Amino acid sequence: MHSATATLLLSASALTAAKYTFDPLKHMSGIAPYFEPHDPTSNFDPAPPQGCNVTRAAYLVRHAAIYANDFDYESYIEPFVKKLEASQGNSSVNWDRSHALSFLSTWTSPVEDEDIEKLSKVGSLEAMKLGVDVYERYQHFKQPKKVWTSSAERTVLTAESFVEGLALKENETEIVQIGEYKKTGADSLTPYKACPAYSGSRGSKQSIVYQKEYTAPIISRFRHEIPAFNWTASDIYGMQQLCGYETVIRGDSPFCSLDLFSPNEWLQFEYTNDIMYFHNTGYGNPVSGAIGYPWVKSSVDLLTSQNASQDIYVSFTHRELPPTVLVALGLFNNTAYSASDDVNATMPNDGINPQRVWQSSKFMSFLTNVAIERMECDSFGYQDNANQTGEYYRILVNKNPQLLQECTDGPGMSCSRDAFQKFIDEKTQRFSNFSEECGVTYSNSTNALTIYNSS
Ligand SMILES: *[C@@H]1O[C@H](CO)[C@@H](O)[C@H](O)[C@H]1NC(C)=O
Ligand SMILES: *[C@@H]1O[C@H](CO)[C@@H](O)[C@H](O)[C@H]1NC(C)=O
Ligand SMILES: *[C@@H]1O[C@H](CO)[C@@H](O)[C@H](O)[C@H]1NC(C)=O
Ligand SMILES: *[C@@H]1O[C@H](CO)[C@@H](O)[C@H](O)[C@H]1NC(C)=O
Ligand SMILES: *[C@@H]1O[C@H](CO)[C@@H](O)[C@H](O)[C@H]1NC(C)=O
Ligand SMILES: *[C@@H]1O[C@H](CO)[C@@H](O)[C@H](O)[C@H]1NC(C)=O
Ligand SMILES: *[C@@H]1O[C@H](CO)[C@@H](O)[C@H](O)[C@H]1NC(C)=O
Ligand SMILES: *[C@@H]1O[C@H](CO)[C@@H](O)[C@H](O)[C@H]1NC(C)=O
Ligand SMILES: *[C@@H]1O[C@H](CO)[C@@H](O)[C@H](O)[C@H]1NC(C)=O
Ligand SMILES: *[C@@H]1O[C@H](CO)[C@@H](O)[C@H](O)[C@H]1NC(C)=O
Repeated sequence: MHSATATLLLSASALTAAKYTFDPLKHMSGIAPYFEPHDPTSNFDPAPPQGCNVTRAAYLVRHAAIYANDFDYESYIEPFVKKLEASQGNSSVNWDRSHALSFLSTWTSPVEDEDIEKLSKVGSLEAMKLGVDVYERYQHFKQPKKVWTSSAERTVLTAESFVEGLALKENETEIVQIGEYKKTGADSLTPYKACPAYSGSRGSKQSIVYQKEYTAPIISRFRHEIPAFNWTASDIYGMQQLCGYETVIRGDSPFCSLDLFSPNEWLQFEYTNDIMYFHNTGYGNPVSGAIGYPWVKSSVDLLTSQNASQDIYVSFTHRELPPTVLVALGLFNNTAYSASDDVNATMPNDGINPQRVWQSSKFMSFLTNVAIERMECDSFGYQDNANQTGEYYRILVNKNPQLLQECTDGPGMSCSRDAFQKFIDEKTQRFSNFSEECGVTYSNSTNALTIYNSS
């Protein structure tokens, strides 16, 4: 073929419509396997800006993938599995009549009762991989003497796997366990448990409204295909959850098929979760900022201090804490980008807001992590000939740099030390009274997270 013809063919193929691709695993909210979005049209470069070195960092990490949590298992997965098992021995339920659903005639559950809340193999592997990634990102850092974790088995095991990946001398990083109690005030990695104003079930009521709505047409479709199975909204929701859970247990799942649920139906599943977390640990819960602030404050104190004893501080917790930290930092705030100040109006229960920035899959996945980096920069002349020399700060969520509202005066839109201090002081004004915001009634509460002080 002449090269001119080849070039012509090449450019013609470049002009044909791009194929629409869709990965349900990126829309699984709290059941998403860990992923770092790398969309160059909407994500900033994770590398330090030109002229900058990261000199210290603090990380807050959710535990890695588990077999299923209590609530999801008991409310959705177990009832569906029981019903399915009964149907598999019932000749009047003929799964083979359906193309999309036929796998259910032989499918078996990957989760047993005794596995609940346990870390999966994929979970341990991903935690170790994150440890290696963090090691590679900060090769110039000293190995940390300590990492901290809340005391549940799944967070401790995540910390252990992470340290295996991070540490060259594994026995020289101590894993400090912080108890998960109800009367610790803000002084733990699970402060929401000590916050009477916080309720774990908050947001369910709102999300169920949308769950009923989006599952109705799916129920009709499945009922048409397999009339003998008594389809309910909980079955549909449980099947979609199984896409995430089965993937982090077995490596893949027939429930993730786009023949079973269309891309729109996955987006609707995700939105149901977004509504729940919005009211549970997000902007729809007035106490979120006060729950997330103590970790922000103590981490910023460590990063700005002249005498911190570690280069990197890593802490492991559960799904509730990272989103409250994002609220304390003003990130993923729908109303910041809309004319209205009515936070709840940004997350209607009867239809998707496709413009929302509160998209939980971006910050609720297994191993989701929020990092604050301190940088030393010598960026004279890189940007408008400005002299950007000195100390700057940056927030990353799953390795993606985030822009802080009103704090983008540094290289790569990072935040200068003075502006950052001012930014944090504002948050202190607003969120620092944990005991009051939480309506604490026990006598010896505290507003500060002090677990790092003894290091
Ligand atoms: C770690 O293990 C090495 C080799 O077994 C040993 O020499 C070192 O003293 C240990 N360090 C600590 C802090 O236990
Ligand atoms: C408050 O007292 C309770 C019960 O004595 C104890 O368990 C808890 O650790 C104390 N909290 C603080 C912040 O000292
Ligand atoms: C089998 O399924 C049909 C249709 O749902 C139901 O009426 C029947 O009771 C089931 N039989 C058994 C043995 O469970
Ligand atoms: C179908 O499921 C609903 C909800 O669980 C239940 O109330 C109803 O009794 C079931 N119907 C049959 C025929 O099993
Ligand atoms: C948003 O909704 C929640 C739950 O109904 C409510 O507690 C909260 O006060 C509402 N926020 C505003 C600003 O109306
Ligand atoms: C660092 O020094 C300050 C006083 O300069 C002290 O208040 C603080 O506790 C020290 N921090 C650490 C982590 O040692
Ligand atoms: C979210 O953004 C709105 C609009 O900028 C602002 O009024 C509100 O204080 C922000 N919420 C938080 C918790 O930062
Ligand atoms: C960053 O690190 C490099 C390599 O160690 C060094 O040459 C450079 O001077 C450092 N820059 C700043 C601003 O600290
Ligand atoms: C930039 O500012 C720093 C700190 O204020 C100063 O030391 C340095 O000389 C300045 N560089 C230039 C090229 O003006
Ligand atoms: C927190 O709120 C309580 C009750 O309003 C008040 O007594 C206390 O002084 C406040 N604490 C701080 C650190 O602002």
